[in-house]
Amino acid sequence: STTRRYKFDIRLQNVTRLCRTRSIVTVNGKFPGPKIMAREGDRVVVKVVNHVTNNVTIHWHGVRQLRTGWYDGPAYVTQCPIRTGQSFVYNFTIVGQRGTLFWHAHISWMRATLYGPIVILPKRGVPYPFPKPYKEIPVIFGEWFNVDPEAIIAQALRTGAGPNISDAYTINGLPGPLYNCSKKDTFELKVKPGKTYLLRMINAALNDELFFSIANHTLTVVDVDAVYVKPFEADIVHIAPGQTTNVLLHTKPSPPDATFLMAARPYATGSGTFDNTTTAGLLVYLPPNASSSSSHVKNLALFRPTLPALNDTAYTTNYTGKLRSLASAQFPANVPKTVERRFYFTVGLGTSPCAKNQTCQGPNGTKFAASVNNISFALPTSAALLQAHYFGQTKGVYDTDFPDTPPFPFNYTGTPPNDTFVTNATKVVVLPFNTSVELVMQDTSIQGAESHPLHLHGFNFFVVGTGFGNYDPSKDPRRFNLADPIERNTVGVPVGGWVAIRFLADNPGVWFMHCHLEVHTSWGLRMAWVVNDGWLPNQKLVPPPSDLPRC
Ligand code: C2O
Repeated sequence: STTRRYKFDIRLQNVTRLCRTRSIVTVNGKFPGPKIMAREGDRVVVKVVNHVTNNVTIHWHGVRQLRTGWYDGPAYVTQCPIRTGQSFVYNFTIVGQRGTLFWHAHISWMRATLYGPIVILPKRGVPYPFPKPYKEIPVIFGEWFNVDPEAIIAQALRTGAGPNISDAYTINGLPGPLYNCSKKDTFELKVKPGKTYLLRMINAALNDELFFSIANHTLTVVDVDAVYVKPFEADIVHIAPGQTTNVLLHTKPSPPDATFLMAARPYATGSGTFDNTTTAGLLVYLPPNASSSSSHVKNLALFRPTLPALNDTAYTTNYTGKLRSLASAQFPANVPKTVERRFYFTVGLGTSPCAKNQTCQGPNGTKFAASVNNISFALPTSAALLQAHYFGQTKGVYDTDFPDTPPFPFNYTGTPPNDTFVTNATKVVVLPFNTSVELVMQDTSIQGAESHPLHLHGFNFFVVGTGFGNYDPSKDPRRFNLADPIERNTVGVPVGGWVAIRFLADNPGVWFMHCHLEVHTSWGLRMAWVVNDGWLPNQKLVPPPSDLPRC
């Protein structure tokens, strides 16, 4: 294994999309940001230097950070932000993971422009459990805002109203030809006939789950969230924010007289449903001996993919139901077979009363809130949760009485009550080292049901069950899959339904869990787990680095 060193200079850069030039916050002037390349077992060292006026932190989404929680990145959870003129060196080893992950800013909505791929190759000499691809290409979905996304969320939190939506979705930073004034900003995937390509897909969009398809081509799903899966074919891939999916694309044996559109647009069901249309790129066939830089012949026929309807939950359910761990001798599924702690969390949207000094523009003069077990999680500002935990100075920073089950139960998938008694608080669950956990997350119908891609930091978990309606503890566990459930770091709590996950709390530290729809996180759909050190030296959190930023 080797050490991979990177420097991330956070600075402003003028970028033009949709005929609008904006000065946006970037890493090294790039949008999307640079790619991190490593092999399983490598150490990654990234020096982040902040040259802008915004505070910043970087999160290595899906990297387990075994015992190195100081470098996980969520602001006020594992670290205080890196301020203007300051720097921080992230330093971690990639253990037992290979596939695609991504890095992104983890403070407010800075990740709108600060994100990039993390490509983890297997250890040298270890092959993929699928045919070796001819080429590997990152395909990152994002969003483009014609105005400053930081200003949008700041305004939304001030007025208690829903924020403005983005102006386009993007593929590798490019909105593509279906938007006005955007034809030249189109991602082109130039391929040779008769080859296999590995597309490393990442949903880095702020607020939308997406459907993706390439006209006249079937994709083979081989890996999600940097875990191999039993390969299966799909014409359309569903990918939620925070999720990554590797697919094989087999190109046609001889160059067809056509170009093929690839396209992505939202899967969305909530009352705030919108469709700010479709991002597209082109799959372009090169003649067998052409170099990849040669420009393609114009005026070929153009084929377009068909994508499901915006609210096609049936497609999503069917697709995610096909995801299974490889569960082979080489890549076993280590599902916890027994459970020491059980939790039942409601996750959903709602409204909360407007404070006296606020003018709230939410429904009926309220403001939007979102909660886990009726708690709209408030981030501390005086210290990061991890610091408070490590130095034993938790008083005034967080409480440890996060409820295991909803304090005010109601019929979650029926008509919601007028008041669900949501409170703002900073409460955490404390787990002894190596606790095996089962967590059922139940969607609630308040404010129109919506699917929530829940992301857990510091762990991969196994998705042992899912269903619609209210979870029934007397029946549903009988159908749990403990043999080959999918292992991942972000899972959709289905609209009007529930999902059950299991994980082993073998990583000491403080671990954030939240909806990866950024607006829901901003409204409080987030919480944190504290995992205590074990007794052995290799079961303890490493000491904090000396350059850890202060609040
Ligand atoms: Cu990718 Cu806490 O997030």
